[in-house]
Amino acid sequence: MFELHNTVSVVIGGNGVLGSAMSAALAEAGSKVAIVGRDMEKARVVCEQIERNGGKAMALKADATQKAELQSVLNEVLQWGGRVDTLVNASGTNSATPFFDLEMDEWDRIMDVNLKSVVLASQVFGKQMIEQGNGGSIINISSVSSAPPLSRVFTYSVSKAGVNSVTQYLAREFAPSKVRVNAIIPGFFPAEQNKKILSPDRVESIMKHTPMNRFGDPEELKGTIVYLASAKASSFVTGAMIRVDGGFGAMTI
Ligand SMILES: NC(=O)c1ccc[n+]([C@@H]2O[C@H](COP(=O)([O-])OP(=O)(O)OC[C@H]3O[C@@H](n4cnc5c(N)ncnc54)[C@H](O)[C@@H]3O)[C@@H](O)[C@H]2O)c1
Repeated sequence: MFELHNTVSVVIGGNGVLGSAMSAALAEAGSKVAIVGRDMEKARVVCEQIERNGGKAMALKADATQKAELQSVLNEVLQWGGRVDTLVNASGTNSATPFFDLEMDEWDRIMDVNLKSVVLASQVFGKQMIEQGNGGSIINISSVSSAPPLSRVFTYSVSKAGVNSVTQYLAREFAPSKVRVNAIIPGFFPAEQNKKILSPDRVESIMKHTPMNRFGDPEELKGTIVYLASAKASSFVTGAMIRVDGGFGAMTI
């Protein structure tokens, strides 16, 4: 049920902290994985690690905010693997600029990387999955800040609320083609994009609000990503938003 042999996955932001763990999970389950990122050096490291463990991977360079670059990635993936079964949208960026100091170039940058990229990748890879005619799985990486929004990360929260909306919209639109569209809502995992934001007072509030009283380990996303990628394990699951957050979303006083 949880094996992904004879499938091809594309992980955008697969060179990041969460993206690399999710790429490894897909490869361990038997999928061929294309690691897509702007930083090729990091993407190659993830790729080599997967291959050392007996998996199959390739590293590809693309800016996820540029449709033409995603289209080139699709062409290369098709030459390499012949098809696309799973798309994971895991690029992301963040900032804690106070609301009244926010300039629109920063707003655009965050919205582009976190939200526009999801729309563009869904157009490029979603179309391919629909044309293949036997379904597929799109997995968007949302955040606990999607609703209700977290303090301090205004634009990020708006972008992730948008990711939830795109997930539900496309789940309906793509359902007749058996392409499933779901989101994972991770809690807090120390990574590149949030390390500046995790100040000691912030970490204290996060821990108080996380019943498990700890950060997540990227390895803890592996089960959910394989479940959502597997056409057998999650065949009737679309438009879902699955929390992997140590109980953050269940917390109140
Ligand atoms: N770490 C967490 O606690 C957490 C929590 C909730 C959601 N998320 C989400 O998980 C996803 C992965 O983030 P992460 O925490 O692993 O951070 P990360 O910074 O390690 O990874 C983000 C990746 O996105 C890539 N990226 C940024 N801009 C890009 C662009 N224009 N084109 C292509 N790639 C681009 C970066 O190079 C990096 O590899 C993001 O969507 C993030 O918002 C993370």
